[in-house]
Amino acid sequence: LRSLQSEKGWLSTFLHLFQGFWYPTRHMNGVLYTQRQFRAQDSDVLLVTTPKSGTTWLKAILFALLNRFHYLEPHKKPDHPLLRKNPHDLVPFLELRLYVEDPNPDLSSFTSSRLFATHLSHVSLPDSVKDSKCKLVYLCRNPKDTFVSLWHFTNKLRLKEMGTNTLEETFDKFCSGVSINGPYWDHVLGYYKASLEMPHKVLFLKYEEMTEKPSEQLKRLAGFLGCPFSEDEEANGGVDEILRLCSFDNLSKLEVNRSGKLPTGEENRLYFRKGEVGDWVNYLTPEMIERLDCITEEKFRGSGLKL
Ligand code: A3P
Repeated sequence: LRSLQSEKGWLSTFLHLFQGFWYPTRHMNGVLYTQRQFRAQDSDVLLVTTPKSGTTWLKAILFALLNRFHYLEPHKKPDHPLLRKNPHDLVPFLELRLYVEDPNPDLSSFTSSRLFATHLSHVSLPDSVKDSKCKLVYLCRNPKDTFVSLWHFTNKLRLKEMGTNTLEETFDKFCSGVSINGPYWDHVLGYYKASLEMPHKVLFLKYEEMTEKPSEQLKRLAGFLGCPFSEDEEANGGVDEILRLCSFDNLSKLEVNRSGKLPTGEENRLYFRKGEVGDWVNYLTPEMIERLDCITEEKFRGSGLKL
């Protein structure tokens, strides 16, 4: 870490260590405002992820699931907000969007159940989130795919502050825990442990399981949020309808996601790359794979968590 810190001031200008996790320095106001000012309501639902774990996908799924009685009846289908808006517009991040410059954003347009997202670590959650009955949905993804996706994303954003950004350099930093919202393993473990201690409050989902058994995982999610699918809905294809609407194939081809931009300036298309499990085989050397697997094995040892 010391050698990274001396690297042309890269670390201190781009990332800031806060309560054991690295946050982009330019997001620190948002992190602090969220932590100090956000007042969770019992009916809130908060999606939590590390970057590139499939946040966009789960934002779409949560939005479609919780609003299904408004939008998914046959006569309302063409008007579904997900066909016109990027999931990040419908389910905003607290610290990256709502609280980014404003300690008291107007949240009055969000009706119950309010749906927000965050990359905050478990230790840094606002007290009101921990103290209220609001629910947390955590989505994680295997570290190798998360890393490859993150490397592509930060390269495409061409963040000037990041300086050189070769795969090898970024990999070294990721392994040392230095990545946006990293250490990756500590972030995942914080929420995994919380999901074991408070299963009624924290649901722990895996990107790979969502891909493998999407209907099963969507029904699990609906049950956790207290809005299970009825027999009628299941018989009439209600589960598949949401999965189809939120699929990579569907969302990535929509005009809004091909050419639109978020208010924060990022192009919507950057959130849709391949959407596959196992793309890391195309990028990581056998040495890199061994190193990452060893860290994961060591970090998760004794926790019961396997990715
Ligand atoms: P890849 O870069 O591996 O393709 P996040 O939303 O947390 O930023 O994560 C982005 C990753 O999720 C990208 O992974 C992206 O392609 C993938 N993704 C986006 N939408 C998806 C969807 N509807 N289904 C599955 N994966 C999706």
